[in-house]
Amino acid sequence: MLMGFVAFTLSLLLLPFILLHQVHASSHGTNYVTTNVDGICTSSVIIHGYKCQELVVTTKDGYILSLQRIPEGRGEVSGTRTKKQPVILQHGVLVDGMTWLLNPPEEDLPLILADNGFDVWIANTRGTRYSRRHISLDPSNPAFWNWSWDELVAYDLPAVFDYVFKQTSQKIHYVGHSLGTLIALASLSEGKLVKEVKSAALLSPIAYLSHMNTALGVVAAKTFVAEFTTLFGLAEFNPRGLHVHALLHSLCAYPGIDCYDLLTSLTGKNCCLNSSTVDLFLRNEPQSTSTKNLVHLSQTVRDGFLSKFNYVKPSYNYMHYGEVFPPIYNLSNIPHDIPLFISYGGKDALSDVHDVGNLLDSLKFHDVDKLSVQFIKDYAHADYIMGINARDIVYNVVLSFFNQTFDR
Ligand SMILES: *[C@@H]1O[C@H](CO)[C@@H](O)[C@H](O)[C@H]1NC(C)=O
Ligand SMILES: *[C@@H]1O[C@H](CO)[C@@H](O)[C@H](O)[C@H]1NC(C)=O
Ligand SMILES: *[C@@H]1O[C@H](CO)[C@@H](O)[C@H](O)[C@H]1NC(C)=O
Repeated sequence: MLMGFVAFTLSLLLLPFILLHQVHASSHGTNYVTTNVDGICTSSVIIHGYKCQELVVTTKDGYILSLQRIPEGRGEVSGTRTKKQPVILQHGVLVDGMTWLLNPPEEDLPLILADNGFDVWIANTRGTRYSRRHISLDPSNPAFWNWSWDELVAYDLPAVFDYVFKQTSQKIHYVGHSLGTLIALASLSEGKLVKEVKSAALLSPIAYLSHMNTALGVVAAKTFVAEFTTLFGLAEFNPRGLHVHALLHSLCAYPGIDCYDLLTSLTGKNCCLNSSTVDLFLRNEPQSTSTKNLVHLSQTVRDGFLSKFNYVKPSYNYMHYGEVFPPIYNLSNIPHDIPLFISYGGKDALSDVHDVGNLLDSLKFHDVDKLSVQFIKDYAHADYIMGINARDIVYNVVLSFFNQTFDR
């Protein structure tokens, strides 16, 4: 999750978790935890006394994504009251929707939102544990993994928004963490989601990544770009797989990289994690993503601006885009009246304060009364998802943001 999110980190982010997990797994065998075979509702929501529905959404390019709906608060009498406002929660890279649900229930954002009168929808992007189906491709086929975050921008997020909008006939609030912020910003900048979104809360925002200040992240990003074709080709990036394990070992040999405390070296010094929750996290995450996605994230780290996947060879870019350079995502094109809440942490190595500064700069023409920003000095990347005090410090602020009456 947490970190994972990160995206670009991807590499980075991921790596730490991954590494941690490898350590953990080596003493217990490398099998996936199988207690969640029935899905996220059963394992993480219904056990806490909430209603929860497992749903599926098919994207325009054929991926079948799992989606969980928590329609009401615990113990609520159904069908009363006015129509609830829908909220979509979007996780980051190398994790799935379960990462929102690892703390005790009174500390988990989806359940807090449900108890406060929202109709909650948890998205799971392609390739993660419950979103590994496609209308014609099997995950064992490399073509299943032929996507980067461009496709999350173009297909996954729009598919989930369209579905929730059709089901509820209401505009939708959004919460994204890490890569979940980048894909929303990029989608909005291309005019997608605009008619359906009511507001967006962006936690640990990832957009520009050039200041990412973890040594591991930077090395991983460089390695990723270089090793993409030789080591992995077009394939699943399974953090629990042997190839990835070997890659991580090689990265850990770089000077200045502390693989002993990977979570910290990847995400920054999280102030407020519960060790039981971190254990649970490591048993359930990291999840697979595509190697191409990590390469794209690494390009984002390296290039310092947001553009579509770079095929490197001008002729390949021309073939895909009709231009020799990949098109950029211009965040200044996000409609200026969309209510945005941005929360970032002073200790976040993935969502560095300078990069957040660049993000805010690209939003400088946003309507001033539609942009609110929170800075939390002690928070790092994972605190936003698993912090024991996130409810008081962040989630209550998100609730009041959503409860403002926006006429959109
Ligand atoms: C940490 O997590 C454990 C297991 O969920 C829980 O019993 C404990 O109360 C948590 N501690 C805090 C401070 O939230
Ligand atoms: C991957 O997708 C691109 C289009 O995005 C396509 O040009 C290419 O042929 C695909 N490769 C494979 C192996 O499916
Ligand atoms: C992004 O769009 C804004 C306004 O439309 C424009 O002023 C700016 O030059 C664009 N940025 C890039 C990098 O193209």
